[in-house]
Amino acid sequence: MSRKLFTYQGTDLHFGPNAYPLKSAVKNYQQPIWLYDLAIIEERVRWIQSWPQLGRLHYAMKANFNLDILKLFKKLNCGLDVVSVGEMKHALKAGFTGADFIFSGVAKSRAELAWAIENEIYQINVESFSELKRIIDIANQQKKIVSVDLRVNPEVDAETHPSIATALKDSKFGLDFPAAQLAIDLIAQNKCVQLKALSFHLGSQIMNVKVFEKALTIMKPFYQKAKSICPELDRFDLGGGLGIDYKNADSAIDQQRWDELAALFSRELKAMNAFLLLEMGRFLVARSSVLIARVEIIKEVLNGKKFMILDAGMSLLMRPALYQAYHEILPIYKRGEETETYDIVGPICESTDVLMLNKKFSKVEEGDFVAICDTGAYGAAMTSRYNLREESAEIFI
Ligand code: LLP
Repeated sequence: MSRKLFTYQGTDLHFGPNAYPLKSAVKNYQQPIWLYDLAIIEERVRWIQSWPQLGRLHYAMKANFNLDILKLFKKLNCGLDVVSVGEMKHALKAGFTGADFIFSGVAKSRAELAWAIENEIYQINVESFSELKRIIDIANQQKKIVSVDLRVNPEVDAETHPSIATALKDSKFGLDFPAAQLAIDLIAQNKCVQLKALSFHLGSQIMNVKVFEKALTIMKPFYQKAKSICPELDRFDLGGGLGIDYKNADSAIDQQRWDELAALFSRELKAMNAFLLLEMGRFLVARSSVLIARVEIIKEVLNGKKFMILDAGMSLLMRPALYQAYHEILPIYKRGEETETYDIVGPICESTDVLMLNKKFSKVEEGDFVAICDTGAYGAAMTSRYNLREESAEIFI
């Protein structure tokens, strides 16, 4: 994959493998802009699809549900990982069909399950015993045979921010091993459900490949045991969670980090003869977007602290306020060296609306533009209407 995604040519910031000059995007600026480069997504999808052990890549559309992005995933022959009927109905508009959906989520309603079963979706990832009983009930009513997956919690610490770890002992997600065993027994007694897959999803923004190794070591014997009871089991869904280094937007480094995972899959899964599924969000789309914002106010307070107040904040990009997440911020027009220190904040009436504290930056003036980097995943998808500011725009290079 191509390398550095942000480069300066003289004073001007350029973005993406084709070095798009960001000053072109702000010519008629009216409100914050999510600017996307689909080439970045395509490159990443094709790379993951080249992994020898992979069966099918499913895109976790919660990361970004923009229709043009979904259409690209459809064109690239990906399936989707979805968490609501709302997501599925939205994805239909991009050309997806039931056969493309893996349906995850801890609280699927009867109505949602009925819709999924009626539309014969690829796989329902079951996260509780109650859910399984609901599925059996509805499948009997509709006289359908439903392909289910059991999402098991292997209790592996994803070594990520606690708010986005999903396989800790007390997580609400998935089934613990005794519950999964009960579920297998129930499936074995009911012809209307077929155990097609086992899965785990450890969490998001994982940076250590060893975490996957641990989970595989725990899950493999359980898979074999389940298969001896339900011989139709032939898919292994390893969730998502692959992280990126938000401090260094370099595709080559992203690739190096996860090359090891591809190797791990080849080593560990070859003998299993299972169809490998992945549900990836962040890794595929995070790097594809910058959020362009305007410096609205520069304000210096008595202790000498300088605030750079942007017209975009937590109502658009919630990640810094919610998880203290780092998103690089760069001037689109660079006025010299980084001689200043700013607290970069948003316009929202909340003290937690902070993008970055004590950021060394070149001097900026009111009306300048900045690029907030790597905002393609869980950016636009998590916006809220708080403070009813002007809506942002999504545009494509
Ligand atoms: N599969 C399941 C069942 C999931 O819950 C998720 C994400 C994924 C796959 C995709 O994970 P990814 O490859 O994107 O890490 N809002 C947070 C991230 C929440 C992730 C939720 N689940 C953030 O901004 O960091």
